[in-house]
Amino acid sequence: MIFVSLSEQPPNFDDADEQIGTLAAPQGMERAKVAKMIDYDVASNWKLVWENNRECYHCNVNHPQYIKSNFDHYNADDTTKQIKNEIEAATERSEKKWATSGLAITHTMTGMAQFPDADRDLWYAANRTALVDGYVSETMEGQQAAPLMGGYEDADVGTLRIRTMPNFWNHSSCDHAVSTRLLPAGPQQTKVRVIWLVDENAVEGSDYNLEDILPFWQLTSEQDWELCERAQRGANSSRYQPGPYSTYKEYNVDGFVRWYLQQLIEE
Ligand SMILES: [Fe+2]
Repeated sequence: MIFVSLSEQPPNFDDADEQIGTLAAPQGMERAKVAKMIDYDVASNWKLVWENNRECYHCNVNHPQYIKSNFDHYNADDTTKQIKNEIEAATERSEKKWATSGLAITHTMTGMAQFPDADRDLWYAANRTALVDGYVSETMEGQQAAPLMGGYEDADVGTLRIRTMPNFWNHSSCDHAVSTRLLPAGPQQTKVRVIWLVDENAVEGSDYNLEDILPFWQLTSEQDWELCERAQRGANSSRYQPGPYSTYKEYNVDGFVRWYLQQLIEE
């Protein structure tokens, strides 16, 4: 992954490298290969694509596969005692296991990790979080579907998430990593490229099958693009009026909007 800024005053890359590099080191991205790439033309402004990505309010009814393996669709207002116990148990179990492999869980609550951080003008973030008990990979059944990547010695490594403004996010499991890159192509058009990575030595057909590693993020992505296009159509309506954001479910959408406005002021 190569990050480029064309700005005359590029942001500080060293701090990003420190945080992302350290967390992502065990994933072995530099020893990965592209297993599959899918390009999408989404009829939606790129900012609506980010707004969709920054909340999981829509997950319960739109992403049945995603909510089975993750905790971040729960928030402070709907995290029951049982869910709280589950994530605490998963975090504790994972931390015990990972302590010896130098991995660390950095996001231990329900809800999405805070990003972007408009107050600190932070354009990057990475965290590792536990998956629901019984899931070791973001695959349909939660099972490992390709050889372990990078330096992992065990499949139970939760998921690593990386995000950088203005156009990139990545979800990595023990056995594969999925990157999404946005390219604005017009006021109501975004080109999206989704890239599946596996270990460089993994052989398709014997070590992994695309039908095992693709569906989880292909479905989640395509469900999201549909929502983004609907949001665009809604915003185009002469009756459209922006509503208030939920402080429980949409704090990151608020963060994104404030981050974006800040860039305009700085420019
Ligand atoms: Fe989504």
